[in-house]
Amino acid sequence: MKKILVTGDQGYIGAVLVPMLVHKKYSVVGCDTDYFVSNKKKFSYPRLKKDIRKLEKRDLEGVDSVVHLAALSNDPMAELNSALTREINFSASVRLAELSKQTGVKRFIFSSSCSVYGNKFKASVTEEDSVNPLTSYAKTKVQTEKALLELSNENFSPIILRNPTVHGYSPNIRLDLVVNNLVACAIANRKIILLSDGRAWRPVIHVKDLSRVFMLMIESQRLLVHNQVFLVGENSQNYLIINIAQEIHGQLPECKIVFGDKKSRDRRSYKMNFYKFNTKFPKFRFKMNLQKSISELIKFFKETKLTAAELKSADYFRMKKLKYLLDSRKINKKLYWI
Ligand SMILES: NC(=O)c1ccc[n+]([C@@H]2O[C@H](COP(=O)([O-])OP(=O)(O)OC[C@H]3O[C@@H](n4cnc5c(N)ncnc54)[C@H](O)[C@@H]3O)[C@@H](O)[C@H]2O)c1
Repeated sequence: MKKILVTGDQGYIGAVLVPMLVHKKYSVVGCDTDYFVSNKKKFSYPRLKKDIRKLEKRDLEGVDSVVHLAALSNDPMAELNSALTREINFSASVRLAELSKQTGVKRFIFSSSCSVYGNKFKASVTEEDSVNPLTSYAKTKVQTEKALLELSNENFSPIILRNPTVHGYSPNIRLDLVVNNLVACAIANRKIILLSDGRAWRPVIHVKDLSRVFMLMIESQRLLVHNQVFLVGENSQNYLIINIAQEIHGQLPECKIVFGDKKSRDRRSYKMNFYKFNTKFPKFRFKMNLQKSISELIKFFKETKLTAAELKSADYFRMKKLKYLLDSRKINKKLYWI
């Protein structure tokens, strides 16, 4: 039974990926500092409630693959403190990869992001195109990718997944991601509120499909994945933000699309070409798409009776939650628990 260490196991993606791995009989160990879950939560698999900056060699003994998800996970959060973002997202990630290599871990699968491309006015972007990170977050992803690939040797395989914006239901759902946010807004406010003109391209992927791709990286032949960078997704899942809003309006015709006064400072726009992934893994099928995900989210938010007040709560917004933890002195300035 292969042992897999999943960092960030209690985040949005980890909370979907881990049950899948457990179901497939992997021996999973989670590692998370638990910024976004209650400390009363019970877990059905072994975990290290630990900051990744404090991981040691003994935490990695017997581990075959590391899936590295833990990070300050979006642009605004990273802008909050770029030095800390660098410390967690870059330095601690590279240190963890070095410890993994020394301990005999074979694969290190890194959750990078399409945001490394920043703003690309090109018909479609491939792995070969130059990166153009616009934010501290995206810069740390680029730096980490480079450092990880330099660690590769015949026994240690870094694998870089450049992931689109993720959407869909997770037990630890985030509403600071574009699709989830627009659907939640529609249900709670009966309006689909855009904070831009909607003309930016955004590739998207469902959280379950992405989790299946992480599993594929664990299970594929080494030569297929060793030292590789993959854009993960399907060409049909590149959307203009306005088209995402229109898809939601299509399923919730009573909710109008409105352009909010508060303008987002997000300058990202990129349209991906997923040719490499789809030719290397021709048998892999994406099971979800934007339309199915929107219906799933509508059902979930209606069942849980999402309110406009909840939409403002820190529980679903990573940056708000971290600010709350800082202001209430539950974590210190270095983001360690007090
Ligand atoms: N969600 C997306 O749309 C998306 C897209 C591309 C890439 N990614 C990347 O995928 C990864 C997971 O994303 P997510 O949406 O699940 O994010 P998330 O914020 O929901 O989860 C990240 C988890 O990491 C943990 N964490 C943060 N700092 C830590 C530290 N110092 N030590 C230990 N744990 C720490 C948090 O407690 C959290 O549970 C991130 O690296 C993110 O950058 C996400």
